[in-house]
Amino acid sequence: MTNVVELSTGSRVVVTGGNGFIGGHLVKRLVERGDRVIVFDGTPPARPVGGGRVRYVQGDIRDAAATAAVITDDVDVVYHLAAVVGVDQYLARPLDVIDVNVIGTRNVLEAAHRAGAKLILASTSEVFGKNPAVPWREDDDRVLGSTSSTRWVYSSTKSVTEHLTFAFVRQLGLDATIVRFFNAYGPGQRPAYIVSRSVHRALNGESMVVYDEGTQTRCFTYVEDAVEGTILAATHPAARGEAFNIGSMLETTVGEVVGLIAELTGARTEVIDVDTDKKLVSYEDLPRRIPDTTKARELLGWECSTSLRDGLAATIAWARENDWWLQQPDSGAA
Ligand SMILES: NC(=O)c1ccc[n+]([C@@H]2O[C@H](COP(=O)([O-])OP(=O)(O)OC[C@H]3O[C@@H](n4cnc5c(N)ncnc54)[C@H](O)[C@@H]3O)[C@@H](O)[C@H]2O)c1
Repeated sequence: MTNVVELSTGSRVVVTGGNGFIGGHLVKRLVERGDRVIVFDGTPPARPVGGGRVRYVQGDIRDAAATAAVITDDVDVVYHLAAVVGVDQYLARPLDVIDVNVIGTRNVLEAAHRAGAKLILASTSEVFGKNPAVPWREDDDRVLGSTSSTRWVYSSTKSVTEHLTFAFVRQLGLDATIVRFFNAYGPGQRPAYIVSRSVHRALNGESMVVYDEGTQTRCFTYVEDAVEGTILAATHPAARGEAFNIGSMLETTVGEVVGLIAELTGARTEVIDVDTDKKLVSYEDLPRRIPDTTKARELLGWECSTSLRDGLAATIAWARENDWWLQQPDSGAA
């Protein structure tokens, strides 16, 4: 028996990981469209959103009973974003990555299935690993390195979350959709990623850092575009049982993005180049990471609409107004 959930505005929604970077933007948009939102997250919000219209429940998705207590029969949709995110985190806490992704996601899927809710799984471009044949279509191969390298634990376990989700869809009839994000950036992101960390450093008068001369390329995706793709995935009937690449197709070198941040912030500090062969022995960087987003465009009518310049300008303007964020320590890997 399949369970297709019709979603209109005014839905009852649970967002796991709703206090995180993408989750916070998603919750804000869901409230704006009239949904009733419960955030289930292991940490409290840095800044609550939704003006009192969001219920915050602190808890761990590894705890099946606590998860089921939030994802109850009256819930229409679960956006599952909770995960251990960031290279610094998954190199330091591989066991947590495995438990949160595998055990936690299984708990969320079970609860959504029992509640008859639709589920959206937040996955990642990392599932494609180091497949050199870019751009990647949704069904392209995964090419991963050795299990002796902790670097692959995030990719491997996120792939398991996708297998789990497809299994719930195909074996148990769950209504679910997978969205794979590609280098999302924007206001409020922890200063541990190339854009957020560079903005943080530039505005604090510190040198920005690139690895291996900044020649790697990425497709930087403004968070509001990613959120729009995520809500479409939850509401569009064509999305059921499918996976979608949600990312910009504009390939940009890390050096170029850092140069643009320097221009937009007016930073006068130098850019430090780190040779990862000498410093980050356990990390295997990818030379190129590019999505093919034809499927999201054709089935959902979605594509990125924010230019890199506009997205960076909005991120920098937000950072200038949020001193608490600028005061946080940056947590890059070098
Ligand atoms: N930011 C990106 O560019 C990007 C790219 C690809 C995929 N993703 C995926 O999108 C999702 C959101 O990422 P983000 O950038 O907002 O990360 P984030 O770290 O800002 O947010 C993750 C949230 O999950 C919560 N969480 C972690 N473990 C938990 C647990 N055991 N129980 C309950 N809550 C827990 C954290 O407290 C945090 O608030 C993740 O699933 C991530 O894998 C993000």
